[in-house]
Amino acid sequence: MIKCINVSDLRPGMFIHDLNCDWMSHPFLLKRFLIKDEAEIEKITDSGIHEVYIDTGKGMDVAHAPTVTEVKRQLEEEIREFAQHESALVRKVEAAEEFDRARQIHQEAHQIVRGIMQDVRLGKQVQLERVEPSVARMTESILRNGGALLSLCRIKHKDDYTFLHSVSVGALMVSFCNAMDMDAQTIHEAGIGGMLHDIGKMKIPDSVLNKPGKLTDQEFAVMKCHVVESKKILSVTEGITQIAINVAAQHHERHDGSGYPLGLKGDQISQLGQMAAIVDVYDALTSDRCYHKGMAPTDALRKIYEWSKFHFNPTLVQAFMRSIGIYPVGTLVKLESGRLGVVIEQNDNNLIAPKVKVFFSTRSNTHIPPEVVDLSRGTGRQRWRQDRAPRIGRKVADRSAALSVTDFLYSANLGVGRNSSQRHLLLQGAAGFTDSASNPDIKQMIHAGRGKIYQCSRHPGTRRFQRNQVDRRHLQR
Ligand SMILES: [Fe+2]
Repeated sequence: MIKCINVSDLRPGMFIHDLNCDWMSHPFLLKRFLIKDEAEIEKITDSGIHEVYIDTGKGMDVAHAPTVTEVKRQLEEEIREFAQHESALVRKVEAAEEFDRARQIHQEAHQIVRGIMQDVRLGKQVQLERVEPSVARMTESILRNGGALLSLCRIKHKDDYTFLHSVSVGALMVSFCNAMDMDAQTIHEAGIGGMLHDIGKMKIPDSVLNKPGKLTDQEFAVMKCHVVESKKILSVTEGITQIAINVAAQHHERHDGSGYPLGLKGDQISQLGQMAAIVDVYDALTSDRCYHKGMAPTDALRKIYEWSKFHFNPTLVQAFMRSIGIYPVGTLVKLESGRLGVVIEQNDNNLIAPKVKVFFSTRSNTHIPPEVVDLSRGTGRQRWRQDRAPRIGRKVADRSAALSVTDFLYSANLGVGRNSSQRHLLLQGAAGFTDSASNPDIKQMIHAGRGKIYQCSRHPGTRRFQRNQVDRRHLQR
């Protein structure tokens, strides 16, 4: 049985199932291991970890500790409680209308960040005038439709991770600050800080920065220096503001004082520094790395919510969840009716009732004509509470169940041929995107919205499933 315990209850002989912290913040080479001695417990405590999950089938038990199911149920209740608020995501135009512009803005920002970071590696100064127009265009896009650019930010190529992560943190900071009703100048400066927050990584040896595996304790200590380096670089950048410097200098500080480099606590960390910490962890958790599989956005949000007891400002975490949605665009969900669909848009009034494009019935195990279901429309909250309206039963674990959504779509035989263009056309139809199937970025975006992606266009999944057949074990749990 998996149980959640406080680290003060840890004893040698217990089996760690999950360290319950973001994997970039701890120095352990293994995620699951048997505690052999007190020194290991001390190392866990020193890493700022407060609660861990233990496997009582593989080690000692703590009788009074809650099970993982109990913890999840409690978290879900709390999330549902505050999720019945208005979405803070802007939607002045439809996502489909904004995607083309957002794609260009994202590409441009990527090139600019790459150029600036490579300049820094060569010892040159940051030219702020190159970053500012890019942040301004990102802000304009987010103010037209927040979902479009943020969906594109989920595309990550492993080789370009540092640059793309910087773009994502910039965009997420702009969106988050806007949701917090901050003024235009603060939003702009926070966006710049987000884009440049990891600039100090260019001073970290490549062998550590791009190591294709978990870092050793020594390498981890070297990696941590990137925050101090970021602050140093930005402090001598002409035209930079204190807000942008704070975002970079404090993005690894934690609310309980367990962060670095200064171990600041609570209000000692600026509000934008606290926001940057949430955004940075969210983007890192949802990104694939060579030694780490990215989490689905909904799972990452729930983990951040769970950790907000200690590591983040809980009020800001709730505000962040409102700013991107409890079920972000591109999440695959199963409705309680058994229909499978993809979240295509947030609902203005209720974050747990987004618009979903359904395309498959798990009850009849067949595809159905794609249809947009607005989970709130025409039902009213009272009726929704009485379960008369369709609602999300759960998010479908397309990764952990070894079921890729694209494989699934293909196997479900939604009119998709072996030809990849046809396949992508169908994916767009299912997700509600209308751009040309031949557009490679849109293909990536559509893929990124569903998880296991890049493999999917190369591997249609016919080896795993027969046509018209779905592995029901993964859908009915
Ligand atoms: Fe960082």
